[in-house]
Amino acid sequence: MSKPISKTLIIGLGLIGGSLAKALKINRHCGQIIGYDRDFEESKAGYNAGVIDLAIENLVDAVSTADLIVLAVPVKAMEKVLMDIAPFIAEDTLITDVGSTKGNVVAAAKRVFGDVPTGFVPGHPIAGSEKSGVAAADHTLFENHKVILTPLAESSSDSVNVFTRMWESTGAEVLVMNVDKHDEVLAATSHLPHMLAFSLVDTLAQEQDNNTDIFRYAAGGFRDFTRIAGSDPTMWHDICLANKQALLSQLDRYTAGLANLRAAIECGDSESMLGTFTRAKAAREHFSRILSGTAYSQHMSNQQVTFRAQPGGSVSGKIRVPGDKSISHRSIMLGSLADGVTEVTGFLEGEDSLATLQAFRDMGVVIEGPDAGNVTIYGVGVNGLQAPPGPLYVGNSGTSMRLLSGLLAAQAFDTELSGDESLTKRPMGRVADPLRLMGAEIETAENGRPPLKIKGGQSLKGIHYDMPMASAQVKSCLLLAGLYAEGDTSVTEPAPTRDHTERMLTGFGYPVEQNGSTAKVTPGGQLHATRIDVPADISSATFFMVAAAICPDSDLTIEHVGINPTRIGIINILRLMGANLELLNEREVGGEPVADIRIRYAPLKGIHIPEDQVPLAIDEFPAIFIAAISAEGTTVVSGAEELRVKESDRIQAMVDGLKILGADIEGTEDGAVIQGGTLTGGTVESHDDHRIAMAFAVASLRSTGTITINECANVATSFPGFVELAQSAGIKVEKEKG
Ligand code: S3P
Repeated sequence: MSKPISKTLIIGLGLIGGSLAKALKINRHCGQIIGYDRDFEESKAGYNAGVIDLAIENLVDAVSTADLIVLAVPVKAMEKVLMDIAPFIAEDTLITDVGSTKGNVVAAAKRVFGDVPTGFVPGHPIAGSEKSGVAAADHTLFENHKVILTPLAESSSDSVNVFTRMWESTGAEVLVMNVDKHDEVLAATSHLPHMLAFSLVDTLAQEQDNNTDIFRYAAGGFRDFTRIAGSDPTMWHDICLANKQALLSQLDRYTAGLANLRAAIECGDSESMLGTFTRAKAAREHFSRILSGTAYSQHMSNQQVTFRAQPGGSVSGKIRVPGDKSISHRSIMLGSLADGVTEVTGFLEGEDSLATLQAFRDMGVVIEGPDAGNVTIYGVGVNGLQAPPGPLYVGNSGTSMRLLSGLLAAQAFDTELSGDESLTKRPMGRVADPLRLMGAEIETAENGRPPLKIKGGQSLKGIHYDMPMASAQVKSCLLLAGLYAEGDTSVTEPAPTRDHTERMLTGFGYPVEQNGSTAKVTPGGQLHATRIDVPADISSATFFMVAAAICPDSDLTIEHVGINPTRIGIINILRLMGANLELLNEREVGGEPVADIRIRYAPLKGIHIPEDQVPLAIDEFPAIFIAAISAEGTTVVSGAEELRVKESDRIQAMVDGLKILGADIEGTEDGAVIQGGTLTGGTVESHDDHRIAMAFAVASLRSTGTITINECANVATSFPGFVELAQSAGIKVEKEKG
């Protein structure tokens, strides 16, 4: 443990040194704050302004008694100051700096000290303002800003901890990275943009004849882009020299990118131009969402959404629910692998399918939209994906992670797949194990959980796989891997599961051989771009089907719903329970059957749900539990153990919630026994599971009191606009954000 800090010496009382001194003086985190500046008048001004406890003129005395020293002088002056103070620094003194480049500061320290002291931890607060000098010192300057510490091999962990706590006491967020990485990151994110701004303004200003016109007519874009050209020239001169190598390589990358764009403009290469603009726009939007804390990754973890549903009501009218989630995911995946341009309509703009869309953009695919459900995908061909710049984050989406793992296992590049807290608890061994049999190299966290680290460059062999569970995700994962394997890949399922992958591959002109319960692909084919009209999601429609089925006086039509035979378990089950349900206007759209579904109230009766219907209604059980409560008699669910590994343990979540609402229900290993009856009001947990949240909202139609449902933000994964649509249909649910 390092000794307590009773004296802190800040050398250099400019904006950064002064602000740090003031923050530490106010929060009393680092003992007495002593200030030194080359210009003693500045030190005195600092003392008079309450920035420091003591102003000193003689540096040597202060250095020898200080426990902690902060070098807040310009980067160029660092070596000289170090040289002046080195002989007087005690062995256990902690030293840091605030320079905006690090490689040169470390090199200077090495020259001065030979062996750099263990107490030396270089640092860089990423904060500033146009003001300068101690008079501008602001103790809040670092609040919510980042400070990067770049410990050296010699730095002791105690010193890193002390500096971390010091900066955190000012309200900053501390990040740790190595010196080279720091200089690279800063070169890209700060130094390069400054160079571009300086150079652009300088170039335009040199146009002798019309430069005043240019500046007069320059609109917001020019002003925004060149604001930083007003920064201090001497400081930037010094930074360019201090971070020369990293800056030069960023300038080279940038000039190469600009040259590509120039060439694309010259030869009218629209695809290339649109590629650059679309990727940049998407990246910029992604970045803005992260900055404003509303990216799906952030949104999921930060935003608390509660549903409050008042009892009673009935549902009627005509509605259309958003696009099918399973088909939306697959449209992006296969559209990206196709040759040519695929147009998608009816795409689900939910967080899950958007995560898939972002993943493919990250792998270099140009995707326009989504715009009112329209997406245009510029396919790159089966072998055209590129290495993503970092881990692919797929939020809450099990489908995205499992299907992508098959595809990525066969790519030439390494990838990492990560997800949110709920996804991180879900089993991935079910895909990793058979993929390994094909020759894939995949690392998972403990017990086969995400993240998945997938090693590229493996040659896969086709296998035959007998799936131990009925899972469309596992089947699809293996078929996608099979596109790249040597030899055929076939998968046999123990019960029929959704066949959207097989249908869509066929729609893209890639044959899938179906033989009873076995699907087989042969590698080496091509996918040809096509049009995809995504039908409305029967799983989302389910909440409204159940709502109308349980509520006297209801008469609701849900339009354009996908009624693929592998998805219609809910229709079969509701009919067996006595629901009055009609399929109207049946048609086929882009290889998928579609219909309008009309449901009118009719009394329901409890049944033992046939186990062969379970995989065909696997996502519908939270809503089916509500139908069962509203039915007369007992409903038994069995053979549904897969419900325990969905976005939550759906058996437990429904049993717990319904018990709170007064229901007579018992969970079993693979289902539940549910007695029809009435529900009271109460507060239930959705466990961040979209379908649990929506099911309890529907339950309010038959409850006697208000139902409050916690943790509903994830409804946006599959059903953006659920609350508004539910209200318009007659469910009295409201959303509260916290
Ligand atoms: C899906 C398959 C199902 C389903 C999920 C979507 C798909 O999962 O629950 O919501 O798009 O393939 P399993 O394959 O794990 O049953």
